[in-house]
Amino acid sequence: MKLKKRWGLAVTLAVMVSIVTACGGNGGSNGNNSNNTANATNKPAETAAAQETASGSGDGDKKITLGFSQVGAESGWRTANTKSIQESAKEAGFDLKFSDAQQKQENQIKAIRSFIQQKVDVIAFSPVVESGWDTVLKEAKDAGIPVILTDRAVDSADTSLYKTFIGSDFIEEGKKAGQWLVDQYKDTQEDVNIVELQGTTGSAPANDRKAGFQDTIASNPKLKIIASQTGDFTRAKGKEVMQAFLKAHKDIDVLYAHNDDMALGAIQAIEAAGLVPGKDIIIISVDAVKDGMQAAADGKINFIVECNPLLGPQLMEAAQAVVAGKEIDARIVTNETTFTSEQAKEALPSRQY
Ligand code: AHR
Repeated sequence: MKLKKRWGLAVTLAVMVSIVTACGGNGGSNGNNSNNTANATNKPAETAAAQETASGSGDGDKKITLGFSQVGAESGWRTANTKSIQESAKEAGFDLKFSDAQQKQENQIKAIRSFIQQKVDVIAFSPVVESGWDTVLKEAKDAGIPVILTDRAVDSADTSLYKTFIGSDFIEEGKKAGQWLVDQYKDTQEDVNIVELQGTTGSAPANDRKAGFQDTIASNPKLKIIASQTGDFTRAKGKEVMQAFLKAHKDIDVLYAHNDDMALGAIQAIEAAGLVPGKDIIIISVDAVKDGMQAAADGKINFIVECNPLLGPQLMEAAQAVVAGKEIDARIVTNETTFTSEQAKEALPSRQY
């Protein structure tokens, strides 16, 4: 109890600090969205749960029940994200109802409806794709259950359907990947042939990482995307699609993979084709999970843009705040960096995920 009380106080302070410090970027798919400004707020609805935990410390009369619908288990990033959410919920003393959607939107919609029926205090989810959420989000709103988006955004025009979106700025990630390439090839006289492994079709990270990269490399007309296909964020699909790219194109200079797992699958295909990843084909990826960082340290991936999966603590803080009826920022952006091979070598020993 004592520990819980101390945690509650720490969380209350941390929410205040993170709300002030972590927000401020325009980001991701919601980049054009009016709720995505540093000072915008969504006012939480007064819920029964809010009244029961009037102190907002989470250590009142009632344990907070959080219904969380996860995308799936498609990548190393996702595994680390799930672990972060489960551990943080436990540490915060939440009752977590966790559901794995296996990369299917219909499973997420079912899970959210089931959370509504169970009258959970708060629902959080990482949407598989951006579109098609309005109806179910309206059902949650009508039931008085606040919703928090984590990791990925939705494209709903009505931003009152959710309280906040906690996660990366995927457009910015794509831009960082593109800028590194622009810098590498600034003096090139020849065409640079790029193949792209996209994430899950229709997902915010796939849409935004593509857009950010494309916009940035447009500054140099020698940088050309000659093929672009989805690898669904998985290693197996990354390998399969890269095999097809290698068959169809004899002159690939660069691979841009929307995540490490697809890059790692592609590396297997490149090596099987008798080519040297990182030399014959320059590789850029996103995530910076341990396996990706190891490949970068080994010189097989040349540049990684970090996408931080450790969203659990921020999610619990936000959930606690909305259940307590407090105002929170409508956009909480994760701080992230980038790694060259040399930087990956240095960072690897202390990498958490
Ligand atoms: O939404 C985040 C993305 O989803 C990660 O970059 C990818 O690895 C995961 O599957």
